[in-house]
Amino acid sequence: MSQKTIGTLYGVGVGPGDPKLMTLRAVEVLRGVSVVFAASSPKNGYSLALNTAQGHIPPEVEVVRLPFPMTDSHELLAQAWRANAGAVAQALEQGRDAAFITIGDPLTYSTYGYLLRTLRDMGCQAPVVTVPGVTAYHAAAASLNTPLVESRQSLAVISGVADPAEIANLAAISDNIVIMKAYRQFDQIVEAVEALPEKWSLAAASQVSLAEEKATTEAGALKGQKQHYLTLVIAKRRPAPQAD
Ligand SMILES: C[S@@+](CC[C@H](N)C(=O)[O-])C[C@H]1O[C@@H](n2cnc3c(N)ncnc32)[C@H](O)[C@@H]1O
Repeated sequence: MSQKTIGTLYGVGVGPGDPKLMTLRAVEVLRGVSVVFAASSPKNGYSLALNTAQGHIPPEVEVVRLPFPMTDSHELLAQAWRANAGAVAQALEQGRDAAFITIGDPLTYSTYGYLLRTLRDMGCQAPVVTVPGVTAYHAAAASLNTPLVESRQSLAVISGVADPAEIANLAAISDNIVIMKAYRQFDQIVEAVEALPEKWSLAAASQVSLAEEKATTEAGALKGQKQHYLTLVIAKRRPAPQAD
């Protein structure tokens, strides 16, 4: 039998945190690879993706935590990317199939996109298979029993780390706005939506699908409180559209 020369990289979304929201495909991939990589905190090795997927990773599969610093320094991040992508490339070049797991969907505000780019820049030729996951905002909308987008409306998904003043520009062209990473500038985001000329509803959800989940349709009431990293906001123009 010929020796496999290069392994396959699987980018696996494990959903928002509840293992029951992992897909059957994600579980199948985790049972079939020889090594699982997970981005983790350099301080304590914590990885929500790993906590979520752990029960579906067989004991014989190697688990490697890749430390990613929470920093705005491009230089430090680039260094971390090169080191971590190097570890993944090495496993693939040994002919091992590898999974890189991420929270939510791997192609939505995820470290996986950087990993793919860095691997390509390093000349890694491994085949890549991406397994989509339930995004945090789909899970949040489900928790709130609130449609994300309907009829002829549009939906924008933005980063709450960007300038909240941009929300007014987006609201001119979009009927619904999901604001991910809302923890850092939560109050400014809420105030930007409250200042819009039309009436918008404002929901917030944090740690969705986890035991500590909090979700409210009155996000304004949370102003002044420190928000968890896993927090997002869903703003919707009112009134809701007629069905067509
Ligand atoms: C780096 S992004 C990851 C997004 C993820 N790839 C996805 O598809 O949902 C991190 C942000 O996602 C949101 N997020 C992730 N998991 C969440 C959860 N369980 N509850 C609420 N927000 C969550 C938060 O806004 C958080 O700051």
